[in-house]
Amino acid sequence: MKYVSIAEAIEKGKGTVELRGWCYRERKSNKYAFIVLRDNTDIIQCIVEKENVLPEVWAQVENLLIESSLTIKGEIVKEPRAPTGYELKAKELKIIQFADRFPITKDQSTEFLLDKRHLWIRSRELTNVWKIKAQLLKACREFFDKKKYYEVTPPIITGSSCEGGSTLFELKYFDDKAYLSQSAQLYLEAMIFSLEKVWALTPSFRAEPSKTTRHLTEYWHLEAEAAWMNFEDLLKLEEELVSYICQYVAKNCKKELAVLGRDPKDLEKIKPPFPRITYDEAIKILKQDEISIDWGKDLRTIEEDQLMKHYDKPLIVTKYPKKIKAFYMKEDPENKDVVLCCDVIAPEGYGEIIGSSERETDLENLKQRLKEQGEKIEDYEWYLDLRCFGSVPHSGFGLGVERVLRWICKLETVRDCIPFPRTIKRMTP
Ligand code: 4AD
Ligand code: MG
Repeated sequence: MKYVSIAEAIEKGKGTVELRGWCYRERKSNKYAFIVLRDNTDIIQCIVEKENVLPEVWAQVENLLIESSLTIKGEIVKEPRAPTGYELKAKELKIIQFADRFPITKDQSTEFLLDKRHLWIRSRELTNVWKIKAQLLKACREFFDKKKYYEVTPPIITGSSCEGGSTLFELKYFDDKAYLSQSAQLYLEAMIFSLEKVWALTPSFRAEPSKTTRHLTEYWHLEAEAAWMNFEDLLKLEEELVSYICQYVAKNCKKELAVLGRDPKDLEKIKPPFPRITYDEAIKILKQDEISIDWGKDLRTIEEDQLMKHYDKPLIVTKYPKKIKAFYMKEDPENKDVVLCCDVIAPEGYGEIIGSSERETDLENLKQRLKEQGEKIEDYEWYLDLRCFGSVPHSGFGLGVERVLRWICKLETVRDCIPFPRTIKRMTP
């Protein structure tokens, strides 16, 4: 007999089926055993009656602990009292592996759950997060495909920094020193002279000393870069992508969102245009809210959160002071103190999800900015070359996959958006 998934069995609703999976819950008496079986599609209650199975099978059932793997064959019937409305009346049952006593029980500390992460990733909540993440990534692929962007594969081992030295991970590279990539941007900028419109999904690494609910030291970075794209086009592209992701997940992940307590309607509302303000306007709004921040200081979490009390859609904040932003951001032709950059901030206090800008094309400006930021020009020679061989106006952005996922799934921390989170104190399991 061919195995079917639990979802297929429930869909069928009657007849004999054979299922395989893991024991999610179990309860036994001396005549019956209730085994809730799970697979990657759903859960179903299975009832094993002592009288209906061979004595040696019953003996095995009596010793069964949760997370054991097994196959069960039987008849599926409607049962409104069962967790998913159906029940399997077992006729045959085979244990594939008897699990040890599962170490994770109710009310365990966050640290303990992180120590047992290799086991905890199978929990119902996290399983639904992984499913939504897969759909989110599918949405991004589809989006860029429709827009005729090429997916490319930039390097992870790099010789220079993109986002400044303070969050660089250093790597011994034979007799030399290398770094783990913080962003594929500089390489994507090189690729546009071949393919014009490119995107990449890569791990990015940040030696973030901060222990927050928004920072990982290894995260998945979705980045795009396009030749001829100006600042206005860039903002539109970001709005469209964020909206596309939200619509896609709202449509395709109803069941998963329900488990996590996110109403798909919240996501359906996320449609362009998004509100737009400049950094200067942000400072003014904050001042009215009695949060005073000196012009030139970056917006921190508390300022972002305060700002977002005024909005229920992602907010686009543009034109930050040049001195606090990366060297590659284009100076605003109308005001040399600010750059043509944009951060997108998620609603509900989930913080920055996108960082982006039009790129500086002026060679002398670039060199000057690198010097000011204490970088060695030699390390960027190849990058500066791009401004000497058919340079064109161009722009791009980077989106933090786990940041967006956290917002969509309404999760407490970004750590639950990646199976094996790497943080300041943790690189195992
Ligand atoms: O704002 P960031 O640093 O921008 C860049 O790296 C640009 N070079 C991107 C580009 O233009 N191609 O990072 C982009 C996004 C942030 O908005 C945030 O969503 C996410 O990456 N991010 C992190 N996510 C999780 N943990 C961290 N430590 C993150 N740092 C940034
Ligand atoms: Mg940023």
